[in-house]
Amino acid sequence: MTTPQQFPPFSFPEGFLWGTATSAHQVEGGDARSNWHAWEQTPGRILDGSTSGRACGWREGLWREDLDRAAAGGQNAHRCSFEWSRLQPTPDTWDDDGIRFYRELLEGMHARGLRPLVTLHHYTDPQWFEAEGGWLGRRAVQRFSDYTAGVIERFGDLCRDWCTFNEPNALVLQSYVGGYYPPGKRNIFQAVGAAVHIARAHTAAFDVIHRLAPQARAGIVVLHYDIRPMYPERKGNVRLIGLLSRLVNDFFADAVIRGRFPAGIPFSSRGLRPSALDFYGLNYYTGVELGWRPWTKRHLGFRFRYPSDAPRSDSGLVAHYPEGFRRVLDHVAGYGVPVIITENGIDDPDGRLRPRYLVAHLREAAEAIGRGMRIEGYFHWSLVDNFEWEKGWTHRFGLWEMDPATLARRERRSARLYASICRANGFPEHLAREYGTMLCDTE
Ligand code: FCB
Repeated sequence: MTTPQQFPPFSFPEGFLWGTATSAHQVEGGDARSNWHAWEQTPGRILDGSTSGRACGWREGLWREDLDRAAAGGQNAHRCSFEWSRLQPTPDTWDDDGIRFYRELLEGMHARGLRPLVTLHHYTDPQWFEAEGGWLGRRAVQRFSDYTAGVIERFGDLCRDWCTFNEPNALVLQSYVGGYYPPGKRNIFQAVGAAVHIARAHTAAFDVIHRLAPQARAGIVVLHYDIRPMYPERKGNVRLIGLLSRLVNDFFADAVIRGRFPAGIPFSSRGLRPSALDFYGLNYYTGVELGWRPWTKRHLGFRFRYPSDAPRSDSGLVAHYPEGFRRVLDHVAGYGVPVIITENGIDDPDGRLRPRYLVAHLREAAEAIGRGMRIEGYFHWSLVDNFEWEKGWTHRFGLWEMDPATLARRERRSARLYASICRANGFPEHLAREYGTMLCDTE
């Protein structure tokens, strides 16, 4: 039984960034030149048979009302992404409409008191880039660094903080191991090859950003799972799961902070160098338990489950597991670089778990700061329900609910709670009293 006393107050340092995160493909709509647009058109690939379609109507201008809501909700920052194919429809051209759109979007953020944090690559590639071989292509690193240069020349006056890639670890797993994202491959060697290229592309982009905009800062955003062994009594299993956890969670940190690939990756560290970042973007959603039973053939013998006592979202995708976040925060603190929590959230259509998830995860962040970790901000995923990749419209992560048929928005109670937290720069006594019951009845 959860009681209001279990939600003690906490606070954040002055100047903390409070925002939500979105990505271009998931909210803009009508993004016909990207590989994801092409991918969605084949039946069977998206869980509910939908496509991103108009998404949340941002291309039609609805970003204005969503950002009004963010600003009215006490937020002072917003993380969005640029759709590469919209800006560079071909390798040799830049699109005036795309440039105008993103300039207006960034100006709109400033006008509302929202500091922009822009991601250059959030899962999608231009179709022409995929046709050249995508992240396995010979020209991939150069193409990304040219795109970055073009972006900084055109938008460098409007944004200071840049994320190069969103979750390259999840991207290569989904695109080259699971096959759920374009180009839909299942080949571990290609996955490693793509990851190596992306790490080099990050490093090249980091240098370009600093060369063209000395005041700017650049980081990379990585998805971290708290991965625990399912069979702690089996030593071999524990070792293997530890190794996998390092590969999944630390590959990009090794590459861009230490300037080398983890031991065992047979690629030279050419194109890498240490300290190729100004901040580390941390995405955390959930913890998982992994086990290996080599005698079973399915999934190469790997078994996966959520921590057994952790409540789960209706879809089963996210377990409410703040202790996993604590371990991840302590691990990432060990990197010794400033951190921005660039995503954290739960799919929760009825707002059953999100209030508790929000407060419990923020408390972990506040406590990590108390232990000396440098965390500059928190961006909740997401501002409004949006197109959730291969899961289509089935997973609802928004503080604001959205009906994909009408694009009508409705406030969820977690939006009000988050607004109170942002305004108070924490969760003071009076909020604990005000929201205590709500947090308890969300079990
Ligand atoms: C993250 C992705 C984001 C969204 C959330 C739910 O891994 O970066 O685009 O899909 O998960």
